[in-house]
Amino acid sequence: MSGSFVIAVDGPAASGKGTIATGLGKAFDLPVLDTGRLYRAVGVLMQRAGEDLDDTPAAAARARMLTADLLDDPGFRTRAAGEAASRVAVHAGVRDALLAFQQAFAGQPGGAVLDGRDIGTVIAPDALAKLYVTASAERRAERRWKQLTAQGETMALAEVLEDIHRRDARDGGRDAAPMRPAPDAVLLDTSEMTIEQAADAARRIVEAARARWEGHNRPS
Ligand code: C5P
Repeated sequence: MSGSFVIAVDGPAASGKGTIATGLGKAFDLPVLDTGRLYRAVGVLMQRAGEDLDDTPAAAARARMLTADLLDDPGFRTRAAGEAASRVAVHAGVRDALLAFQQAFAGQPGGAVLDGRDIGTVIAPDALAKLYVTASAERRAERRWKQLTAQGETMALAEVLEDIHRRDARDGGRDAAPMRPAPDAVLLDTSEMTIEQAADAARRIVEAARARWEGHNRPS
């Protein structure tokens, strides 16, 4: 385990990991990177440029061009953006191109919180604390439906549930981006929790990891 205070928050779509990551950032005074935003940006920027999401070299080139100032775009929060993100995320070239960006964020001197799919396994395997946040597909669909509806999108809950199943299959069923918990991640199932309870549980997991780390590193 490295000396920097990096918290990895992984999990499937709409599991609550984004809200948990934001809460941990506040609780521990750390910057937060929603890494899904990077994949969403690549997908949406390709579509805006009229490019084919299945075009591997074009997707990798778009990922290499990505800079922090491009990420703050409300167009990246839509249902279509999530779908586009999950399609470009299958390209190993895209994942490679986004690796340095994510690792630079994780390597900030004070530490950082990153949420995504492969933070604990690929981006920051030495993270001080790793959480794998899950919830049933039905609960995740409900949450995503509420979020999208609040943003003004109109669709049936059943369609969002289909999206969730499709995203799970695509995100989990490939070699380039295995969606699985790191062996040393703590599993947090938020199906029956309010967001406050989930945030609280996450904070306690990180506090315990920090206490263990301080115990190991205490001068004898
Ligand atoms: O978390 P979010 O819904 O914003 O992620 C959008 C998509 O981006 C995911 O379905 C996944 O395909 C991809 N992604 C990824 N690795 C990450 C973050 C997101 O493959 N670290």
